[in-house]
Amino acid sequence: MDTNNLNNLTISKMNLDDLTSIRETLSTDFDNFWNYSVFKSELENPNSIYFIISTDTEIVGFAGIIVVFDIADITNIVIKKSYRGNKLSIMLLDHIIDYCKKINISQINLEVNSNNITAINLYNKFGFKQVGLRKNYYSNGDALLFSKIINK
Ligand SMILES: CC(C)(COP(=O)(O)OP(=O)(O)OC[C@H]1O[C@@H](n2cnc3c(N)ncnc32)[C@H](O)[C@@H]1OP(=O)(O)O)[C@@H](O)C(=O)NCCC(=O)NCCS
Repeated sequence: MDTNNLNNLTISKMNLDDLTSIRETLSTDFDNFWNYSVFKSELENPNSIYFIISTDTEIVGFAGIIVVFDIADITNIVIKKSYRGNKLSIMLLDHIIDYCKKINISQINLEVNSNNITAINLYNKFGFKQVGLRKNYYSNGDALLFSKIINK
């Protein structure tokens, strides 16, 4: 990683060209969170909004929400492996929360694997509270349901 790049970070809405540009690296650099075709159909869902965080040369993370009425569900937030630990997910999540406030979302929900301590720390940091539990939801752990009220 060129750490100078971290001075030139931008966040923008993701489009299909952006997804195509990281297609070959989804499995290696982004945890294979979703494969290309699942991601593409999510991106094309009219209720979904995805954001990318980029240096001046490459996309280094993405995150998305699905909006139904005034509720937003965070569907994923993934930072490129070589860029982790640089507060990039904090920047992305900040951006998403600001965006949700602007479009009058009242509540943000998400699900996280009980073994994903890094993500749980991130969500706790932003004031998300655990509101539910789905036992053995994942093959390797429970699903914790987190929620954050905004615009009250
Ligand atoms: C979870 C993830 C998005 C965090 O991204 P990141 O940019 O590396 O995280 P940041 O540097 O912004 O750190 C944000 C917070 O996460 C927590 N965190 C980050 N790295 C951590 C680690 N190695 N161990 C424990 N907590 C950690 C901390 O609370 C941190 O805040 P702090 O540095 O102020 O203490 C990243 O690890 C990732 O892409 N994981 C794979 C995909 C995933 O699991 N996504 C979440 C579920 S949808």
